[in-house]
Amino acid sequence: MRRYRIAAIPGDGIGQEVIPAGLEVLQAVAARQGFALDVEEFPWGSDYYRATGKMMPEDGLETLKPFDSIFFGAVGDAHLPDDITLWGLRLKICQGFDQYANIRPTRVLPGLTSPLRQVEPGDIDWVIVRENSEGEYAGHGGRAHRGHPEEVATETAIFTRAGVTRIMRTAFRIAQSRPRKLLTVVTKSNAQKHGMVFWDEIAAEVAREFPDVSWEKELVDAMAARMVRRPQSIDTVVATNLHADILSDLAGAVAGSLGVAPTANLEPDRRFPSMFEPIHGSAFDIAGKGVANPVATFWTAAMMLEHLGEPAAAASLMVAVEQVCAAGIMTADVGGTADTAAVTAAVVAAIQGANA
Ligand code: IPM
Ligand code: MG
Repeated sequence: MRRYRIAAIPGDGIGQEVIPAGLEVLQAVAARQGFALDVEEFPWGSDYYRATGKMMPEDGLETLKPFDSIFFGAVGDAHLPDDITLWGLRLKICQGFDQYANIRPTRVLPGLTSPLRQVEPGDIDWVIVRENSEGEYAGHGGRAHRGHPEEVATETAIFTRAGVTRIMRTAFRIAQSRPRKLLTVVTKSNAQKHGMVFWDEIAAEVAREFPDVSWEKELVDAMAARMVRRPQSIDTVVATNLHADILSDLAGAVAGSLGVAPTANLEPDRRFPSMFEPIHGSAFDIAGKGVANPVATFWTAAMMLEHLGEPAAAASLMVAVEQVCAAGIMTADVGGTADTAAVTAAVVAAIQGANA
C-alpha cells in the first residue's frame, strides 16, 4: 500500500480546530482511494513558546525533514508579537526548507457569492504564484540610532537571479499546465528601477523556454484594478513576495471569502518537505467556539494530495467540498449556519458516498 508521512502542526487559534477537521477528511479520502497517511502531530506554536521560550524546538527542522508533507494550521497570538510567532515557526519552516513557491488558487466555490456584481460562476479561476523566499521578506535591513531624531530603519528587498529565475520557471510551468496557458507577470518596474526591471528581464528570458505560453506584464497597481474590473481576463499570475501577498488577499475577497482560501508553500525540487496551510490565520476572535470555516484547510489538503502524487484523491476531495458548499452546508463567515463539525461530517459523507 502507498504510504505518506504527514507532519501536522495545528499551531494557534483556529488552527487547532481546522487541522483535526482536515485530517478527518484526509483519512476518509485515503481509505476510499487505498493509500495510508501516517500522521504525527507536533504541539508547536504560541503555547509551546510560553512553556519553553521557543516556538518550536532547536532541532525542529531536522525532525520535520523526513516527512513527505507538512500540514499547517496557523500561527499568531493576541499576547505575543507577530514577528516572534511568525519568524519562530512558519517563516522558519518556509525559509529553512526553501519553500520558494507559494501557490494561491482562487475560485468562487459553488454556494459562495463574489462581492463583484458582474461575476458569473466560473469567471474567476486564477492561480497566484508568490515568490516565497526573498524579495521584501528577506529579513534584510536594520535600525540605527534608536530613539534619536536621526534614527533610521531600512527594509531591503533582495532579488537574486537564481531566486527570480526559479519562481518564473515555476509560474510558466503552472501556466502551461492550465487550459488558457496565460501568465501575467506583475511588477512595479516603472518606479522600482532595479529589482523590478530585473524581474521583467528574467521573465522575458524564461519565456523563451515556454513558447506555448502567452505572457504579459502588468504593474501591480493596475493589476489590483484589473482584478476588480476584468477578473475574467486573468489566469496565472506571478509576483514578488509582498505584491502577491497583497493581491492574494484581494483575490480571496473577490472570491467571496478569505475563509476558504488555501495555500501551498512548495519546494518544487523536492529536496525538503512542502507545507500546506489555510491562508486565514489564527483568528483568535472566534477560536475555541467550533465555528471556524474548515474549507480552506480542505482545499489545501487537496493541494497536498496533488503534491504527494494522488491526483484522483485530490479531485475527489474537491468535488466533495464543492457539493457540500453548493448544498449550503457552510459556516457563518460565508452566510451559513453550520459549525466546523457539521461541515466536516458532510464532506466526509460526500467522500464516502462518491465511491459507494
Ligand atoms: C499570508 C500572511 C503572512 C504573509 C503574514 C501573516 C506574515 O499575510 O500568508 O499571506 O504575509 O506571508
Ligand atoms: Mg497575506
